[in-house]
Amino acid sequence: MKFFIDTADLEQIKEANDLGILDGVTTNPSLMAKVGIKGQEAVYQHYKTICEIVKDGDISAEVVSTDFNGIVEEGKKLAALHKNIVVKVPMIKEGVKAIKWFTDNGIRTNCTLVFSAGQAILAAKAGAAYVSPFLGRIDDSGWDGVQLIEQIAEIYAVQGYETEILAASIRSSLHIIQCAEAGADVITSPLEPILGLLKHPLTDIGLAKFLEDAKKFN
Ligand code: E4P
Repeated sequence: MKFFIDTADLEQIKEANDLGILDGVTTNPSLMAKVGIKGQEAVYQHYKTICEIVKDGDISAEVVSTDFNGIVEEGKKLAALHKNIVVKVPMIKEGVKAIKWFTDNGIRTNCTLVFSAGQAILAAKAGAAYVSPFLGRIDDSGWDGVQLIEQIAEIYAVQGYETEILAASIRSSLHIIQCAEAGADVITSPLEPILGLLKHPLTDIGLAKFLEDAKKFN
């Protein structure tokens, strides 16, 4: 399972990248706004900077147009920024048409805002490189987000779809583990749940004891 970080914060991207386990980055307009990016040129420059930090990973850059022509024009500009840019397109009718156009024209896409198996089937049919089910937001609304990941994984396996399942809207380290069990190809998570995977009190207790005992033979 690949690890993407879900942020536009350059320091957090560097920290995850330095850990050596980072395979890519996802962003969205809310995450870009959160770090104070203003203006189209600044948005493009920020994506380029992220691509320079994470040299070998896919970087999702989201369109904000909602009509076919707008999505295609915007997506072409984003894809031209760097070879690792994946155009993030919302799961709407015009978005599905645009994903098919991008597929036919060699531009990779991440279909975002996916909340059902039916939407995931459409994304795969249109040829999206990634489909992003938002499991945390599903949990927030009283449904089981991990169950959706399992369902999509089963459908994609049965049907032989090549679209990768990118589990998004991760809220905890447990979500990451559950996604690995459920068959996600990728998780995209804020930094904290990723770092949370490192933690176990018995590791800390065991290390303290080893270091204490090491003093005896030093
Ligand atoms: C996915 O690509 C989105 O950027 C993200 O995972 C949304 O997460 P949220 O529900 O925490 O906003």
